[in-house]
Order: sequence, then structure tokens, then C-alpha cells
Amino acid sequence: MTELATPSSHLLPSWVRAVAEFGGSRIPGSGDFLVDGGRLEATEASGRALIDLVRPLADPATLLPEDLVRCEHWWLVDASTTEDPVVGFLALRHALTPFLLERGGHVGYAVRPSRRREGHARTGLRLALARAAGLGIERVLVTCDEDNVGSMLTIESAGGVLEDEREGKRRYWVTSHPA
Ligand SMILES: CC(C)(COP(=O)(O)OP(=O)(O)OC[C@H]1O[C@@H](n2cnc3c(N)ncnc32)[C@H](O)[C@@H]1OP(=O)(O)O)[C@@H](O)C(=O)NCCC(=O)NCCS
Repeated sequence: MTELATPSSHLLPSWVRAVAEFGGSRIPGSGDFLVDGGRLEATEASGRALIDLVRPLADPATLLPEDLVRCEHWWLVDASTTEDPVVGFLALRHALTPFLLERGGHVGYAVRPSRRREGHARTGLRLALARAAGLGIERVLVTCDEDNVGSMLTIESAGGVLEDEREGKRRYWVTSHPA
């Protein structure tokens, strides 16, 4: 069962194992762009630092720099286990900058390689759409690379309607809905 979990220290051992599986590559939806160099280290210290960076971004009381929009970062967890529950990452951005409107979209996500093809992205996106509905975001932009079949199917199974393709990015609009 996939759930959205608030990034927190009790999940760090599993977060470290999940991040390690990406082998130092960028992890969509993880907040890695906030870290110097954009690459997460698979260590608890790096995870702790990331928690301190992402939590204020979701807090309406935080004054944001001009180039950042309010954003919720979630860790996708498999709630049926406490052994190694972190299966991926998801970010829900509350607004679109010109860059997000063109390429990034409202939602970014990634599932750790060892836990793919189990429906975690599909459920994660559904849960994000329910949160978006709660926030009053009716039309949610979700994008993916034109050769990313897994992400394309994830978005289409959520009801995504393709608007266009811009420089290799497919741009879909999905109507948000309560859970
Ligand atoms: C894309 C990604 C998030 C999919 O995660 P996942 O948990 O494996 O996806 P799901 O199991 O929920 O599958 C969703 C749909 O995609 C299909 N799918 C997933 N991966 C696929 C693949 N590699 N090839 C073909 N179909 C695939 C599933 O069959 C399912 O289709 P359905 O809804 O018609 O049944 C994952 O591969 C990933 O993290 N990739 C790297 C990061 C990334 O690309 N993030 C998205 C950025 S836009």
C-alpha cells in the first residue's frame, strides 16, 4: 500500500537505501536541486540536511525566495512494511513558474529501481492529485520526457490529457479530484 509520508528522521535508514539505488544520478521529486551540486548523498547526514531544506518550503509561514514556489516534498512509502518502507519521492508544487509551466509541471516523482512496476508511481500521483484538489489546484500539469514510457503511462492512467510536446517534454494536464 503506497502512502505519502512527511520526510522525517525515523525514515532515514530506508531513505539512504533508496537514494543509494539511484547511484548518484538526479532523482525527480526528491528535492535534490536544493542541495549544492544537485546530487543527494546516500547518508543519513545528507537526508537530515534535506529534511531541513524541504520542510520550510511547504510551510505557509516561510517567506520564499523569488525563484521558488511553495512545494510539498513527500517520501513515497510502502505502508505494509516497516523493514525498508521508502519506495520513492514525490514533490507537489503549488504554483508554476515560467520554467515549471514549460517543463517541470506541478508534480515530480521517482520510484527506487528495486520497487518499480508495483504501482507506486500510479498511486503516488493519485494521492498527489487528491492533495492538489484540497489545495484548490484544479488543473495539474505533469510532464515527462518523450521517451519515458513508464512516466507517460503513469500520467495517462491518472487521466492526463496531452497538451503538447516542447523540446522533448510531453506536457499533460490532469484534473485533480478528491481521494
Ligand atoms: C517512471 C517511474 C516513476 C514509474 O514508476 P513505477 O512505480 O514503476 O510505475 P507504476 O508501477 O506505478 O506503473 C505505472 C504505469 O506505467 C507502466 N510502466 C511503469 N514502468 C514502465 C516501463 N519501464 N515500461 C513500460 N511501462 C511501464 C506500468 O505498467 C503502469 O501502467 P498501467 O497504469 O497502464 O498499468 C519510474 O520508472 C522512475 O522512477 N523512473 C525514473 C524517474 C522518472 O523518470 N521519474 C518521472 C519523471 S517525469
